[in-house]
Amino acid sequence: MTCFQINGGAALDGDVKCQGSKNASLPMLAACILTKDETALYNAPALTDVEAALDILRYLGAKVKREDGALIVDAAGIGKNDVPDALMREMRSSVIFLGPLLARTGRAVLSAPGGCEIGLRPIDLHLEAVSRLGAVVKNEGGKIVCTAPKGLAGAEIPLSFPSVGATENAMLAAVLAKGETRILNAAREPEIADLAALLNAMGAHIRGAGESTICIDGVNTLAGAVHTVLPDRIWGATLLTAGAITKGRVCVKGLSPAHLVPVLDVLERAGCEIRRGKNEITVSAPRRLHSVRTVRTTPYPGFPTDAQPPVTALLSTARGVSVIMETVFESRFRYVGELTRFGASIRTDGGFAVVEGVPRLYGAEVSAPDLRGGAALTLAALCAEGESTVREARHIDRGYEDLAASLRALGADVRRCRAESATAI
Ligand code: EPZ
Repeated sequence: MTCFQINGGAALDGDVKCQGSKNASLPMLAACILTKDETALYNAPALTDVEAALDILRYLGAKVKREDGALIVDAAGIGKNDVPDALMREMRSSVIFLGPLLARTGRAVLSAPGGCEIGLRPIDLHLEAVSRLGAVVKNEGGKIVCTAPKGLAGAEIPLSFPSVGATENAMLAAVLAKGETRILNAAREPEIADLAALLNAMGAHIRGAGESTICIDGVNTLAGAVHTVLPDRIWGATLLTAGAITKGRVCVKGLSPAHLVPVLDVLERAGCEIRRGKNEITVSAPRRLHSVRTVRTTPYPGFPTDAQPPVTALLSTARGVSVIMETVFESRFRYVGELTRFGASIRTDGGFAVVEGVPRLYGAEVSAPDLRGGAALTLAALCAEGESTVREARHIDRGYEDLAASLRALGADVRRCRAESATAI
């Protein structure tokens, strides 16, 4: 089991280039199924979740390679239309293959992705979306079997919640459907617009991505394309927050401030100085942060739920009391118990966390419960006095390309190690 060994106290200082977006890369890899040509994705991050998506593509019959910084997918040989249970469990967002498999083969067989560390993660909105397009959805022995014997037909898809994944699945299914599709109450995250940019480069006709209503005129075929994945705003938020919690100065290059408005607002309200460049963001922290009355997570363009754990860790060292309201996932405070091992004073009740800032944190042995919770614990260890160990770093590797190396480049004393031996690897 890998872990991070951290000797806290260093104020981070430096510039770092933003990683490519995990949450844009995953639906884009699924989109490669929609054509028999080659598709090339630049700036796709090297993450275990991306590797899991590549494993699924290979299982389905695609050829995948990394060449000159690009992920190249040749989906001509797609011959299967089921995602095995083991691969579904490896990455619950594998549900994103539902739409493109239906569109390409007329059939998709998935096992229920199951919950994960941050909530039940139902997929009812995904299934409702493809049903609206004419798919027949059945549960056969624990497997979800979706078929579209007569192909998919454009339809109106009203989403009861602006689900990112359901919006993406609807888009991926509708681009080859006959006729027009309108997705209402669509998710507005930047990753949605980036997926539409790839699909339109492949020959799709999508309008309104990034807004609440997305219109898609179905086409008969799609071609390959070359696309550069947009920067990962949550990775950027995490590194900026690392600069703030260590009372340092961090500049994230290659990321637009427009993608992080609510997060930068909270950092400023906590006392940080933020410099917004055209395509870079710099945070400089004060000697002591002050609390922020409330932070409430909502779908984009609100405060992103994925930035909640790192910002909660930051506010645990601020002067005063902050209230965090998590409205998107029902179990996104599981990391808080581990955070209190550093000396943080936080009480949670359902979707609320009351954070009473403390003047300092102390080194501790903790275990990452999930991806963003693990990032939060790592940030707390960076400012804690003394040695800390963050176990189960595998969760962190799902969404951050070698986070320890990125932090070391900014002056942090952090090493990746094997928990059994606690020796650096
Ligand atoms: C995407 O997950 C991201 N993952 C998540 O990032 C992110 O937290 C989330 O969007 C919200 O921004 C990827 O893009 C791979 P949702 P997704 O569907 O699509 C409920 C990270 O840390 N819901 O917008 O699964 C659901 O239970 C990850 O990088 C239904 O009820 O999020 C949740 O409460 C974590 N039925 C809410 O909607 C459905 O069919 C938001 O989910 C689907 C979702």
